[in-house]
Amino acid sequence: MDLKKQGLNKDKNDSLKSFKSKFINNDNEIYLDGNSLGKLPYKTILDLENVIKKQWGENLISSWNDHWLELNNLINHKMSLLINSDKGEVMVGESTSVNLYKIIHALLESNEFNKALISDSLNFPSDLYVLDGLKNLTTKNKIKIIKYKDDIKCDLNLLKKNIKTDPGIYCLSLVSYKSSYLYPLNELNKVAEENGSVIVWDCSHAIGVTEIDVKKSNIKIAIGCTYKFLNGGPGSPSFLYVSSDILEKLSNPVRGWFGHINPFDFSNEYVPSSNINKFRAGTPSILSLVPVNNGLDITLAAGIKNIRKKSIDLGNYLIELIKNELSQHGVVVASPMNSDFRGSHITIQHEEAWRICKLLISGYKKRKKVIPDFRPHNNIRLGYAPLYVGFFDLFETVMILKSILENKEYLSVDQSKKTVT
Ligand SMILES: Cc1ncc(COP(=O)(O)O)c(C=O)c1O
Repeated sequence: MDLKKQGLNKDKNDSLKSFKSKFINNDNEIYLDGNSLGKLPYKTILDLENVIKKQWGENLISSWNDHWLELNNLINHKMSLLINSDKGEVMVGESTSVNLYKIIHALLESNEFNKALISDSLNFPSDLYVLDGLKNLTTKNKIKIIKYKDDIKCDLNLLKKNIKTDPGIYCLSLVSYKSSYLYPLNELNKVAEENGSVIVWDCSHAIGVTEIDVKKSNIKIAIGCTYKFLNGGPGSPSFLYVSSDILEKLSNPVRGWFGHINPFDFSNEYVPSSNINKFRAGTPSILSLVPVNNGLDITLAAGIKNIRKKSIDLGNYLIELIKNELSQHGVVVASPMNSDFRGSHITIQHEEAWRICKLLISGYKKRKKVIPDFRPHNNIRLGYAPLYVGFFDLFETVMILKSILENKEYLSVDQSKKTVT
């Protein structure tokens, strides 16, 4: 069967196909940017309208008792279902960077691990900046960044060797933002545990598209944002998970009142909450939490196993298309071919990556617009969110790319850039 027919067939048999109608879609656009900002679900508009107009506009302060204090608990509970943690081990609030800071600070202060901070060159820059800001609390006053042959693939042997010979606090992105490389969680957590190390997993590019089972994988600590595959909206709060055996040994460096066991007693003495709530600081951002609630509902209804299965299928299909249609035009797949080691985006490389992205986004020659991400210096990220991206969308994308490359259309475009690419 040819690849076009295959794509159409796969869409027809897709058990998740009804989920697309839950989101605002544009028929003239293929949105492959799910891994920077997920789409807006219709219900989120209604939920936000209700919270703004009724709960805030009409009911004002009483909404804290009637709705908002409970909302955070409800969201935390739904997140615990998604990652299979116990209640009281995961909370949603504040940015990924802030949660990373709090947890790394807590680990360094706890004396449970060597005071060494180690990451690798595949990690997201913000994480490296946060670690760097805490280097004065380490024994050597510096952080170590393991470098591989390139910034695409992890050298697992080298990483494991480091964990064995240089135990301490590791921070890794479960799915690498640039290449989609997916780390073998269970294997690395085992090596860490056997060698007195802990790995803080940044799941920003993994949550909502890969199966994260904190119990099965023995994850001790995880963080991650909710605005990508969980469709929580721009700047929606992140999650922080800490397993209960470690949680009791850690304290939050930002001792705000929402981390207190009884914030509304207004006691002058700080007594931390006994569960993950001790890592909360100030008043939760209710308007940003409302969309997360709905994003989690949609993901839980679809089922993470089904989402992951479709994501793998989409990825394999896209790689096949690229190999058949684009490789003779200088396009290289930088993401792992083996789906066991791949998240939900494929990164392709081409020396004209930026100008190609501009053409895709512009809908040049009245074609459908395709929205990818550009990551320096030659990477085009094609993110496929299984809840609203179909197989034929990928077929159409590759055909548009083929036309751009065959006709060298990028030569007609200038190199100027906006801030967000
Ligand atoms: C892997 C990863 N980690 C951390 C961050 C930073 O998240 P935040 O802006 O919530 O601090 C991002 C943002 O895109 C990310 O992709």
